[in-house]
Amino acid sequence: MAPNNGFVFDQQTRLPGLDGACGIVTGASGGMGFVLAQLLTECGARVGINGRSHARVELAVAELNSRRPDSALALPADVSQLDQVCRMSRDFLRWSAGRYDFLVCNAGYALDDTLWNTPLHAYSDEQITQGFAAVRAVDLDGARFCSREALRTMVAQKAGALVFVSSTPALSGHKGTPYTEAKAALLGLMRDIAVEYAGMNIRANAVALGDIASGWYHNLAPERIAELAAEIPLQRWGQQAEVAGTIAFLLSDLAGYITGQTLIVDGGKIIR
Ligand SMILES: NC(=O)c1ccc[n+]([C@@H]2O[C@H](COP(=O)([O-])OP(=O)(O)OC[C@H]3O[C@@H](n4cnc5c(N)ncnc54)[C@H](OP(=O)(O)O)[C@@H]3O)[C@@H](O)[C@H]2O)c1
Repeated sequence: MAPNNGFVFDQQTRLPGLDGACGIVTGASGGMGFVLAQLLTECGARVGINGRSHARVELAVAELNSRRPDSALALPADVSQLDQVCRMSRDFLRWSAGRYDFLVCNAGYALDDTLWNTPLHAYSDEQITQGFAAVRAVDLDGARFCSREALRTMVAQKAGALVFVSSTPALSGHKGTPYTEAKAALLGLMRDIAVEYAGMNIRANAVALGDIASGWYHNLAPERIAELAAEIPLQRWGQQAEVAGTIAFLLSDLAGYITGQTLIVDGGKIIR
């Protein structure tokens, strides 16, 4: 079988439980968040598209709505700002007529070469305070803010599914301490939600991603891309559609008995 990395989603795509479901994907104006939103809307879901840039969010929504009218809503907001997250949630609930079935916390602080590649002992005072706080504000605080808003409705509904986008350094360690810390803490948040809300039929899971051809990938030299691919047992980078498929599965009723878990999507680098 050829590597399944070139598949397309169309309106034949079906996953139980997603048709008519309403939810938000953060960081969905580009990268794998957008591809996930595409898959979810093709499955019949209605999706709030979040990102900071109004223009990028509007563009993404226009594309999704041109394929399925009123399947997407523009929700420009910085997830690290609580007031913006609360406003986003109010706008979303008005559009979804009070339903909040799923949340995907995908927005992440963009790779910062200096912050990621400085060993802990060498950080300046500013890096170890503001630098770390900036990463945490988006990856962790943002996810916590969005989760609180979603859970307020999910608890009343007695149903819901959340997925948190983490990274393999959270499990195995890596250079890039603020990133590793924030993505590991995200798994703690996910587990707490899974434990606290399982009795209310609300599931929380995470994906820990390896090297995916999205975001930072586009700034790498071809030789570096090849070098990193050679370190992966499947000998290639993961595709955005493969991540989208994994998250959509976790949101769907197919994963109805899965909660509190971290699914590793990394081409086999971490096998345990
Ligand atoms: N690519 C990989 O290999 C890889 C590996 C492991 C984990 N991940 C994680 O996967 C997620 C998606 O990454 P990607 O590679 O697809 O990145 P990407 O292409 O850079 O997309 C990131 C998205 O998040 C939005 N965003 C960034 N900061 C935000 C904020 N404060 N509030 C709201 N939206 C924000 C961006 O839009 P704006 O800039 O307009 O806000 C964009 O829509 C991230 O959490 C990342 O850490 C990626």
